[in-house]
Amino acid sequence: MPGKGTWTIERHFMLQEKSHPEAKGEFTQLLMDIALAGKIISREVNKAGLVEILGLTGEINIQGEQVQKLDDFANKTLISILDRSGRVCMLGTEENTEAIKILPPYTSGHYAVSMDPLDGSSNIDVNVSVGTIFSIHRKVSKGPRGEEADLLQTGRKQLAAGYIIYGSSTMMVYTTGNGVHGFTLDPSVGEFLLSHPDIRIPKRGNTYSVNEGNYLFWSEGTKRYIKYLKEMDNQSGRPYTSRYIGSLVSDFHRNLLHGGIFLYPSDQKDHKRPHGKLRLLYEAAPMAYIVDRAGGYASDGKKNILDLEPKELHQRTPLIVGSYEDVKEYEEFIAEYDKEKK
Ligand code: AHG
Ligand code: MN
Ligand code: MN
Repeated sequence: MPGKGTWTIERHFMLQEKSHPEAKGEFTQLLMDIALAGKIISREVNKAGLVEILGLTGEINIQGEQVQKLDDFANKTLISILDRSGRVCMLGTEENTEAIKILPPYTSGHYAVSMDPLDGSSNIDVNVSVGTIFSIHRKVSKGPRGEEADLLQTGRKQLAAGYIIYGSSTMMVYTTGNGVHGFTLDPSVGEFLLSHPDIRIPKRGNTYSVNEGNYLFWSEGTKRYIKYLKEMDNQSGRPYTSRYIGSLVSDFHRNLLHGGIFLYPSDQKDHKRPHGKLRLLYEAAPMAYIVDRAGGYASDGKKNILDLEPKELHQRTPLIVGSYEDVKEYEEFIAEYDKEKK
């Protein structure tokens, strides 16, 4: 492998392609399309304070959330790059209520892409890092064009998953199943260069990330687990440190590199979130695939996120993700204290 300074993400994609004999250039080109969108969004995020791109559009999205201008920009950038690429048959995005079917005059391709164009958008105008999350499945429907079924596949069937984090530097982290690899954008040459080859998450961490403001709405198992992390026990490295940025990509990325556990459990807040806040297709499943490939684990509290069957595009799920032993320990608390009411 040539020096890190010249190992671009494109060369890495092509290397990965060799281990997927069925993949043709189309798959690599699709990953390159997403990297291009990341560069364009990074440029806007990094000058957000200077141009009229901050603030709200005045619209409310399907999630019932205020749409930030940067959400809209990121969404439009990704859609306009992907919908005419000829590589995609269906697009599912957090910002659009309905799935996007690629129709004439555009050519329909072999892949279905689910995406969160801008994750952590409540942090945009306070200059806290945000990100883009993507998940790629192979087209499974028989017709010449895509169907929603192409998007509604389990996380285990993903061909690739990744994110771009717009932080102190812009990084793209992805997996196609052979390890997890991180690339840092060098804006002076406009290339993502290899900076974190073969990322492995520590089996156990000593950091936990959760919005403690939801404490009152947690289940008994979640309450006991978080209390357990705060007790003194040098043997197991407790009490853990609390780190919560409120941007999944940022909290996930830190824990991926240093170890730790991120939790967005089901909460009964305003009784509207029995299944938690995060979305399965374009937040939980891609993060679950990445962490799995890096030696970690992702659960809804009872089962592996990768085995959840999506029924609809914006389906929510509790997400507990990070170091393998920490997430398994959480599942033990849920099994012990949240026994299904018979
Ligand atoms: P998005 O900006 O795409 O809607 O995602 C925000 C998510 C996720 O990034 C983060 O982990 C979580 O919302 C934070 O939620 P709370 O503010 O309720 O803690
Ligand atoms: Mn999000
Ligand atoms: Mn978002």
